[in-house]
Amino acid sequence: MTKAYYEFFCPVKVIAGHAALEHIPFELAALGAKRPMIITDKGVRSNGLLTPIEAAFEGTDVELSHIFDDVPPDSSLETVRAAAEAYRSNQCDAIIAIGGGSVIDTSKATNILVTEGGDDLLKYSGAHNLPRPLKPFFVIPTTSGTGSEVTMVAVVSDNQKNVKLAFASSYLMPHAAILDPRMTLTLPPHLTAMTGMDALTHAVEAYTCMAANPMSDAYATAAIKKISANLFNVIENLSDAEGRLELAQASTMAGVAFSNAMVGLVHSLGHALGAVAHLPHGLCMNLFLPYVLEYNKEVNGDKIADLLLPLVGPDIYSQTPANERADKTIATILAMRDRLYSLTKLPRTLSETGKVSKAQLDEVAEKALNDGSIIYNPKEATLKDLREILEKAW
Ligand SMILES: [Fe+2]
Repeated sequence: MTKAYYEFFCPVKVIAGHAALEHIPFELAALGAKRPMIITDKGVRSNGLLTPIEAAFEGTDVELSHIFDDVPPDSSLETVRAAAEAYRSNQCDAIIAIGGGSVIDTSKATNILVTEGGDDLLKYSGAHNLPRPLKPFFVIPTTSGTGSEVTMVAVVSDNQKNVKLAFASSYLMPHAAILDPRMTLTLPPHLTAMTGMDALTHAVEAYTCMAANPMSDAYATAAIKKISANLFNVIENLSDAEGRLELAQASTMAGVAFSNAMVGLVHSLGHALGAVAHLPHGLCMNLFLPYVLEYNKEVNGDKIADLLLPLVGPDIYSQTPANERADKTIATILAMRDRLYSLTKLPRTLSETGKVSKAQLDEVAEKALNDGSIIYNPKEATLKDLREILEKAW
């Protein structure tokens, strides 16, 4: 049955392939941009990831006018202001973000300042507070996980006030996402595992939570199929360019799914644990995904059961009786985590992280209860429920 009403929106041009980077100058010129600035971090630069991009601009009419590589692991207001200043003093006219979540969020916020002028980001925070389209903005992800290249949100820390500023506007969406396997080939095994589980969680939550719709379902299930078919191949053969490109596309597809269908309780718990124990987001997703599915199963077991097909393929799916498919989906995810643990030591439980104490669990549960994503979870959770899930994940 079709939903009574829904909207689906993704205006980002996806440019994907083994030579996608070479198309960037042409695509920028088509938007009227001649002097793009790259925003990135020191790690991306020292890994040589900028080399093929710089080469792509040689002999073209588009000039790479500045490279800003000072983005820290957590984006901050100061960094955004410094990047905006560099953009202005080099007379740039477009932004290319090259990196993971922090670089992409920093770049989105920088685009607000360089379009609107001034250095007061605060007045644009919140939802739909941007008055007009922003400067040409391309994103080249160097991890396959966040999906930020196709979302309309950015989060920037105000370190002086110790708060996070969130921005949501369709104008924050990039003009193009460039997916080229050369950009993720150097991602080490545990980061490949962690970011892959973030992408998997985006797709699973988009499909199983309240705002799912037929369009987002299509992206979510396709993403899950690509992740289960390629994640282990890539971890066992890191230079598998074909598999890397599959994972990059899966991450973007999962991003399209969740930017339209939102996420649920795995993310609420993950945001809370990230804030309390400072653990990476993808790891938090890995810790909670099977236990939240187990919790939700009584209300949406049919949706969880659907996911067995993209996870394991038609043979095992058809051999599994219909009333056992939801459990088999959860068992498959548990087995994926075991295999990731044996290959990369990615922790499966809170205790395996060695970074969380039992005394912190109440605080995690309370923070999760107040997290925005919880409203999309198909089963309403009380503080006691959250505490029980955390106990199972211990
Ligand atoms: Fe996520």
